[in-house]
Amino acid sequence: MSDDQPAVAPAVVRLPHYTRAEQDEILGDGDDPFGVAAAGLVWLPKEEHFAVRQGGRLVAHAGLLRLPVALGDARTEVVGVGGVAVAPGMRGRGLARLVVAAALDHARTMGPRHALLFCRPPLVPLYRRLGWHPLDQDVLVEQPGNRLVTMPLRTMVTPLRDDARPPAEPVRLFSLPM
Ligand SMILES: CC(C)(COP(=O)(O)OP(=O)(O)OC[C@H]1O[C@@H](n2cnc3c(N)ncnc32)[C@H](O)[C@@H]1OP(=O)(O)O)[C@@H](O)C(=O)NCCC(=O)NCCS
Repeated sequence: MSDDQPAVAPAVVRLPHYTRAEQDEILGDGDDPFGVAAAGLVWLPKEEHFAVRQGGRLVAHAGLLRLPVALGDARTEVVGVGGVAVAPGMRGRGLARLVVAAALDHARTMGPRHALLFCRPPLVPLYRRLGWHPLDQDVLVEQPGNRLVTMPLRTMVTPLRDDARPPAEPVRLFSLPM
């Protein structure tokens, strides 16, 4: 840890809403701050928001929502995690770890056995470090116009209960991706 980092982890707060304005406060107003525009997907907004403020400014966020899925033939639900974002000047200090951990603490109270997220391939090692596992099987997600598409990004999963193993079955979201 360098000298300019606080010794005490910053507080994670719940945000009542998270709009484009809050996202811009963290990531700036660039066209493609998540680097996923090339995938051409329509995404779901998240419903619960975990964030860090520093000096009155939002600097980190992770969101989540409950989603219906099929794992093979079994209908169930997962917690979808998304919108993980840390302000450019604040990266590499554990803020993504902090907000994702807070989101997962909440997710463990929601019932589903697994949390899922989608990420660009370069972020797989980071999420592995946070305890997530990449899925090898295809993951189908819905898109406008009743289209079902194979997710072009990597899908990662983490257990929300001690006895949950990563699903080996095909995964199909009954929703837009998050
Ligand atoms: C991706 C992003 C959220 C990471 O935020 P961050 O605050 O820099 O991440 P952290 O500092 O919490 O790092 C998390 C862990 O991953 C590790 N890590 C970071 N890069 C890594 C890499 N390339 N390989 C392996 N581990 C890596 C860190 O060392 C840390 O582990 P540790 O706590 O055990 O030391 C941030 O770069 C960002 O906002 N990017 C733009 C938006 C985006 O792409 N979001 C992702 C959407 S899926």
